[in-house]
Amino acid sequence: MAFTLNQISPAGAAEIIGLDCSKPVLEQDFAALQQAFHQYPIICIRDQHLEPAAQAQFARLWGSLESQDRSTYCHPDDNDVLILSNERRPDGSQVGIVDAGDFWHSDSSHLPDPCRITMLYSVKNPLQGGDTEFINTTQVYAALPDELKRQIEGRNAVHHVSKTLNPRVTISAEREAAVDYYKRREKETKPVVQPMVRTHPETGVQALYISPRFTIAIEDMDDAQAQPLLDELFRVMFSNPAWRYTHKWRDGDLVFWDNASLNHMAGGGYSYPDTRRMHRTTVAGGKPFYRAA
Ligand code: OGA
Ligand code: MN
Repeated sequence: MAFTLNQISPAGAAEIIGLDCSKPVLEQDFAALQQAFHQYPIICIRDQHLEPAAQAQFARLWGSLESQDRSTYCHPDDNDVLILSNERRPDGSQVGIVDAGDFWHSDSSHLPDPCRITMLYSVKNPLQGGDTEFINTTQVYAALPDELKRQIEGRNAVHHVSKTLNPRVTISAEREAAVDYYKRREKETKPVVQPMVRTHPETGVQALYISPRFTIAIEDMDDAQAQPLLDELFRVMFSNPAWRYTHKWRDGDLVFWDNASLNHMAGGGYSYPDTRRMHRTTVAGGKPFYRAA
């Protein structure tokens, strides 16, 4: 293997040094990367210089890319790359998505086939803040009391994209027309059910698959019972710092993560004109499922 891999957090993060993702990746290097990704659901490849097309090409090694539904924020040089940014043009319009990931979530769990891998390439870091936070939900699941496991195994939770339906989140004031957007989504979008315990499609390992951002109810369970159960699961999820990793971005970091094994969140803590800009690519995934161990 041509690169060095160091664990950077016991919550499942590793850094890779000595790999240039803008060049074709050798077969044996890619096999080593895949193996590392089974062990570490958060991988940071340091010191990259990636044009949008090169980033998309590296992402495509992992599977087909998702089409971007918020096309106004696609990168003009490559439609497979979405811009996350708080930058504004001289006319005041936003360059990228400004509130991406502002509550704990697993990417697109509100869709029937959520994205499998998310990749962010750090183009510009703010002077302060701008971290990305992760919680390893495989570790959370493993630590759940048996009584809680028994209550959720084989059950489905209800996920919805609209923040207006979810009392656990609020709508960012920084995003233009966000209330209208989420009200429209509330009417137009059907909820999706997902297994509360998700079996990893490649390793078979179980993870807790709910999030404060997208999970609003439990299928076939009254709210009187379901909401306290969700609250208790979220309490456990956030109870142990050992399951948590905060990524402090360095220039040139390319970070990718496994949405079947983690929740994550943008940490915020910066404001315009201090700017943060990320280029994002997402690899499509299959339908989440539960298989008894
Ligand atoms: C995302 C996301 C967090 C961040 O891109 O899916 O949640 O720190 N981003 O930008
Ligand atoms: Mn996200």
